[in-house]
This record gives sequence, structure tokens and C-alpha cells, in this order.
Amino acid sequence: MQTPQSDVKTRERKCVILGCGGHGRVVLDCLVNAGKVSVVGFVDSNRKFTGRRIDGVEVLGHPEDLPDIKRKLGVDVAIVAIGDNGVRRAFADRLDVLGFELINAIHPSANLARNVTLGANILIAAGALVSAHCQIGDSVILNTGCIVDHESLIGTATHICPGARLAGRVTVESGAFVGIGATIIQSVRVGYEAIVGAGAVVTDDVPPMSTVVGVPAREIKQPQTSRDAWLLPELTRAAQIANLTPEKTPTAKMPV
Ligand SMILES: CC(C)(COP(=O)(O)OP(=O)(O)OC[C@H]1O[C@@H](n2cnc3c(N)ncnc32)[C@H](O)[C@@H]1OP(=O)(O)O)[C@@H](O)C(=O)NCCC(=O)NCCS
Repeated sequence: MQTPQSDVKTRERKCVILGCGGHGRVVLDCLVNAGKVSVVGFVDSNRKFTGRRIDGVEVLGHPEDLPDIKRKLGVDVAIVAIGDNGVRRAFADRLDVLGFELINAIHPSANLARNVTLGANILIAAGALVSAHCQIGDSVILNTGCIVDHESLIGTATHICPGARLAGRVTVESGAFVGIGATIIQSVRVGYEAIVGAGAVVTDDVPPMSTVVGVPAREIKQPQTSRDAWLLPELTRAAQIANLTPEKTPTAKMPV
């Protein structure tokens, strides 16, 4: 984990952005405004973008080309700019294996308390507010103007959409999505890979992999698959041995 100030060490290093869609443009804007790295280009899985310029920055190639790009252009830092939580996380893992240092894009207008802790590969967009003692995991998006209040825990590869407001001591487990303008009251837990709809007011815990909408938020969709299918084999065995329901196994309370 790093503090916001430790981003200074990345000054003038060469950076590549993975993903040249709308989210890629936002990440580019944050990095340029922050002025701590030099963005040398994008890479994108869609080869039709190769050679094009996105807001003046060239699309250098496909993610498969990253080892060459790294060697030839001396690029050593990168960030994944893909909206889908799972895909963003998977690409972050690949970049890590390829030896890139994953950096954070923090817009200068975002306001972070001094004691916030940050993982890597995070976007904190313009106007976002992060209050005291929050912990923000790897590959998180804190989108434009969202508010994350004190002592909240924001898990790996989550997306807090524009204008969402999280009160104090909220936990958002890994892979969850909090839609635009949603409000979550204090001490609520949003389960892993859950979806909170746009404008919802969440007053109670949200089960993992469910979808909730409305005011107050109500569950409209339950997980498509049995939660057993999501357990690693060894955990399934452990659950059987311990004669626990999946809800009582460790994965039901996934670490953030
Ligand atoms: C919650 C959400 C993911 C549901 O999408 P979906 O699974 O495709 O669901 P559907 O569109 O089939 O809607 C199912 C029902 O929920 C209702 N519903 C959907 N989203 C709703 C919302 N945000 N608030 C209230 N009701 C909603 C629909 O009207 C529908 O009701 P009905 O069954 O009575 O007709 C989506 O509507 C949403 O809010 N996405 C967030 C978008 C966002 O924040 N984008 C920002 C990106 S940066």
C-alpha cells in the first residue's frame, strides 16, 4: 500500500495506458493533469485502433505487443483503463507478470485525506473526495465526484461511479459496482461482485453477486449460479467437511 504522496516518485517515468475507450480518455486526462508521468501511448485489444491517435496520444498496438513496447520505448509503468471490473483486474495481473509497475491516476482536483491508503492501478477522477482512514484496494475506480467517507474499505477491482456517496465505515467487497448517484448509508457491506443500481439508496447489507435498485434499495436479481460454483474446489471440500453452507465459508466474507 502507498500513501497519495508517494506517487511523486513516478515523476517523468514513461507510462502506457491499457484501453483506449472512453475510460482510457479519462485516465489519460488525469495523468496529464497530474503531470507525474509521461504517457507514451495506449495499447488496446482491438487492433483496428492501432496507429490512431486518442486525444493526441498514439495507440501503439495490442496488449501482446507490450513486451516489445516495454523494451523498445523504455516504458516501465502502466495503468489499466478498462471499465469492466473483472477484465481490469485480469489485465493488471498480466501487466504485473510482464514487469510493469502499476501506477495510480489521481486527478489534482480529487481530495484525499492524508491517512488514506491506496493500492495500485487505481483511478481517482476529478472531484472525488476520500475521507479519513479509508482503504482503497488495487484496480479500484473512484469516478468523477464520488464521495467515500471515513473508515470505508473499498475492495479490489470495484467501481464507485460518478456522484455515488458512501457514508462512513462502508465496506464494498471486491468486484462490486456502485452505480451513478447511488447512496450507501453508514456501516453497510456491499457483497463481492454485487451491483448497486443508479440512484439507489442502500440501507442494508447487499448480498454477494446480487443486484439491488431503488429507494430504499431492493434485490431484483440474485446470483445466476449457485454460490457453490464460485468456491474454489478446496474451499468447497472444506465447506463440506465442516458441514457449512457456502454463506458461512470464508469466500462469503471475501477480504477487501
Ligand atoms: C441496476 C442495473 C445494472 C440493472 O440493469 P439490468 O440488469 O439490465 O436490469 P433491467 O434493465 O432489466 O431492469 C430490471 C428492473 O429493474 C428496474 N431498474 C433497473 N435499474 C434501475 C435503477 N437504477 N433504479 C430503479 N429501478 C431500476 C427496471 O425498471 C426493471 O423494472 P421492471 O422489471 O419493473 O420493468 C442498471 O439499470 C443500472 O442502474 N446500471 C447502472 C448504470 C451506471 O451507473 N452507469 C454509470 C457508469 S460510469
